Amino acid sequence: VSATGRGPADVLVDGTRIAAVLAPGSTLLGHDLAGSVDRVIDASGKYVIPGGIDAHTHMQLPFGGTEASDTFETGTIAAAWGGTTSIIDFAVQRTGERVEDGLAAWHEKAAGNCAVDYGFHQIIGGVDDDALKAMERLVEEGITSYKLFMAYPGVFYSDDAQVLRAMQKAADLGLLTMMHAENGPAIDVLAAQLAESGRTDPYFHGVARAWQLEEEATHRAIMLADVTGAPLYVVHVSAKQAVAQIAGARDAGKNVFGETCPQYLYLSLEEQLGASSEQWGAFEGAKWVCSTPLRSRAEGHQESMWRALRTNDLQMVSTDHCPFCMKDQKELGLGDFRKIPNGIGSVEHRMDLMYQGVVTGEITLERWVELTSTTPARMFGLAGRKGVIAPGADADVVVYDPRGRTSIGVGKTHHMNMDHSAWEGFEVDGHVDVVLSRGEVVVADGQFHGRPGHGEYLRRGLTQYLA
Ligand code: URP
Ligand code: ZN
Ligand code: ZN
Repeated sequence: VSATGRGPADVLVDGTRIAAVLAPGSTLLGHDLAGSVDRVIDASGKYVIPGGIDAHTHMQLPFGGTEASDTFETGTIAAAWGGTTSIIDFAVQRTGERVEDGLAAWHEKAAGNCAVDYGFHQIIGGVDDDALKAMERLVEEGITSYKLFMAYPGVFYSDDAQVLRAMQKAADLGLLTMMHAENGPAIDVLAAQLAESGRTDPYFHGVARAWQLEEEATHRAIMLADVTGAPLYVVHVSAKQAVAQIAGARDAGKNVFGETCPQYLYLSLEEQLGASSEQWGAFEGAKWVCSTPLRSRAEGHQESMWRALRTNDLQMVSTDHCPFCMKDQKELGLGDFRKIPNGIGSVEHRMDLMYQGVVTGEITLERWVELTSTTPARMFGLAGRKGVIAPGADADVVVYDPRGRTSIGVGKTHHMNMDHSAWEGFEVDGHVDVVLSRGEVVVADGQFHGRPGHGEYLRRGLTQYLA
C-alpha cells in the first residue's frame, strides 16, 4: 500500500535499502525470487507499508519541573513496536539559553541510544540577535524546521515581535516555521482566575485554554507568516475554528500546513471531566492534560479533525508524544492544574490508532499511509529516503495484519515508560506484525529484535512542499 494505491507485490530488500518492487511471481535474472534471497517474510493477506514517521515527539523533555519519562531508548523502542521507524524530536533552546548549547545537549541525549532513526527540529525559546544568528547554522546541521511558542510565557514563549523576526529569518533560510498557536498570556490570566476561585481539577486546564485562544493565535501566526513570506506549519491543531483558519489560508494560496494528533481525533474534554478513579478521584483527568487541550465532543471538534484529514485541510498526524507518569510527575499538579506537566504518550500507538480510522471508514488505506509516513517525509525533507517503498529508499517497512487485533493498555501493548496509558482499553482491529528499520528486522513474532544504537541521525533537507 502506498499513498497513491495498492496491489499485490514482492518487495526486494538488499542491505539497508529497497532494491525492487516486483509483480508477484517475478523472477530475478531468470531465478525464482524466493530461492535467490537470504530470507523471505511471508506477508500474504497483509498490508506492506512504509514505516511510520512521527514528526512530533519529546523524549526526555524537561518541562513543568520534571522530565518526560521516555528516554530516546525507551521511546524509540516503543515507536518500533508500533510500526514507527523514524521520529523527529524537538531539540530545545529555553529562554536564556544558547541555541547551540540546547542542540548539543539533544545530540548527547539521543546519540547511540535510538532503536530507530531520528531527526531534530529546533525549538527557539528565546528569539534574540544570537538566536537569529544561530538559525543560520541549522540547515547545515540537517535541521530544516524550528518551533516557536505563542504559549507558555516564561518558558519558551515568543511575543509577536519575536515571532516576526524569526519568521523573516526563516523565510531567508528556507526553514519551515512550526507554531504552537495558543494565546499564552490570555490563557495564563484565565487559568489563574480559575485556580484562585477553587477550580483546580485537571479539567479546568482545558477550560482555560479556550478554543478562541487557539483560533486567534492560529490566525495571528498565519498573518505574521504571510507578511514575511515564510511557510507555516501549525502543530497539534485541536479546535475546529483553528482548522478553518488554516483551510482559509490554504484557499487563499498561502503556504500553510497543519497536523493533528490521535488524542484530538478520539478523546474529548467531556471524557476528561467524567474521568475518576479510586486512586486519584477527579485528578484521574491529569492523564489527559496536554496542550493544545482535549476539546468538547458536543462542539464537534473531533469530527471536524477527521474531515480535515480527508479534505487535506490538515496534512499529517503526529503524536506530540510527551509522556509523564502519574506518580511523581502528573501528581505535581494535585490541587492546581497549572502545575500538571503537559503531555500524552502515544508514540507506540499512532499507526494502530490511525488504522482504526480506516476500519471505521474515516480515511482510506492510502490516506493512512500518506498521513503517517509519506507526507511527513516530504514535509520534513526526507523524501526519497523515507515515506515510500520504492527502489533506493531505506528499507523501513511494516507488515500490517488487518485480521490481527491490538489491545492497548498497561500490561498489554505498552512499551512506553509510563505508569498508565492515555489509551487504556482501546481496541484496534489491526496489528503491527513485522517491522524493518533500514533492512533489519526490529519487530517480528511478537518480539523486539532491534537494539538501541541502531537508529541513525537523520540530516534532513528543506521541506519538499515548496518549490
Ligand atoms: O502538552 C504538550 N503538548 N506537551 C508538549 C509540549 C508542546 O507544546 O508540544
Ligand atoms: Zn506545542
Ligand atoms: Zn509538542
